[in-house]
Amino acid sequence: MIHINDTRTYHKEQITTLGWELTVCNMLYPENSPCREVVKQDASFGKLLHEFLSRYIDMKQVKTILEAGGGYGFLMKDFLTCSPHVKVTMVDISPAMLAEQKKNIDSHATFIHSDFLELDTAMLATIDLVICNEIVGDFITVCDITDEILESSALDEIKECKRLINEYNLEIKANPFNFNLGALLAIEKMCKAGTKYIYISEHSCESESQGDFRECVPVRPTFNPYEIKLFGHSEYTIRFSHLEAIARTWGYTVYRGVYNDIFQCRMTPKLQFILNSTASVKDEYEILRQFIGDMFTYEYIVCCK
Ligand SMILES: C[S@@+](CC[C@H](N)C(=O)[O-])C[C@H]1O[C@@H](n2cnc3c(N)ncnc32)[C@H](O)[C@@H]1O
Repeated sequence: MIHINDTRTYHKEQITTLGWELTVCNMLYPENSPCREVVKQDASFGKLLHEFLSRYIDMKQVKTILEAGGGYGFLMKDFLTCSPHVKVTMVDISPAMLAEQKKNIDSHATFIHSDFLELDTAMLATIDLVICNEIVGDFITVCDITDEILESSALDEIKECKRLINEYNLEIKANPFNFNLGALLAIEKMCKAGTKYIYISEHSCESESQGDFRECVPVRPTFNPYEIKLFGHSEYTIRFSHLEAIARTWGYTVYRGVYNDIFQCRMTPKLQFILNSTASVKDEYEILRQFIGDMFTYEYIVCCK
């Protein structure tokens, strides 16, 4: 029996704060955050991401940026200090989150209350760079699909899963399997619109810890999107190879990796001690354990046309 994970009602009607859902952007935002001591330089998420994207994108040529699901707007606030000339559009399904964004982002920005998947494609075509930071795991995931259901179901969602699997030759490794339908429709929508640059990051089901962190950070791939239970809703991890396959089919050059490529945390004796100890002697230790786990659980994809 399939079920569909759909967070739209939660985001439209219930969410008032992201406090329960500590995003990496929000963890790095306070200037006194302990996470700033372990990243490559003492800076916020937006500043470090802007610097990282400049490796692949000539940010001076980017005139229009759309951010979907911007949460409190911290990322875009930082982007605007790095690229003050840019015209910004913020799209969010949650009126509460849009209200937070308006407090933090210059009033010249445009704020649109909409489900990203319902956004006008013609409008997307005018955008140079679309940012989807920690949002696509909230989009619809169809769960517990068997081969038989995929072949025989008349449900619209299943037909769309089948279309995407066939059209983009997507590999499925489990039976039953969970399928990131919303995330894949979102990247397909941007590719069809011809958006020049696309950045997406989210919890991945294909990532793994690397280097000095491999032994003490137990992140390993499952290849089947799994549920992350949060306050009032659940999200699903993303099968990034499926996003990659769609972008490549549409002719994009794709760069992909884990968050630690962006933030470049280095192992230190103190960090090793914290990661190996199971007791949470201090709040700071708990925060750092989560943060370092996130460095390898989250993947990013940058698509350039
Ligand atoms: C986990 S928060 C991430 C916030 C921010 N990007 C960050 O990294 O801190 C998810 C954001 O996506 C928004 N969102 C969720 N589903 C959406 C949808 N279908 N369309 C547009 N926004 C959505 C939420 O309201 C929220 O602002």
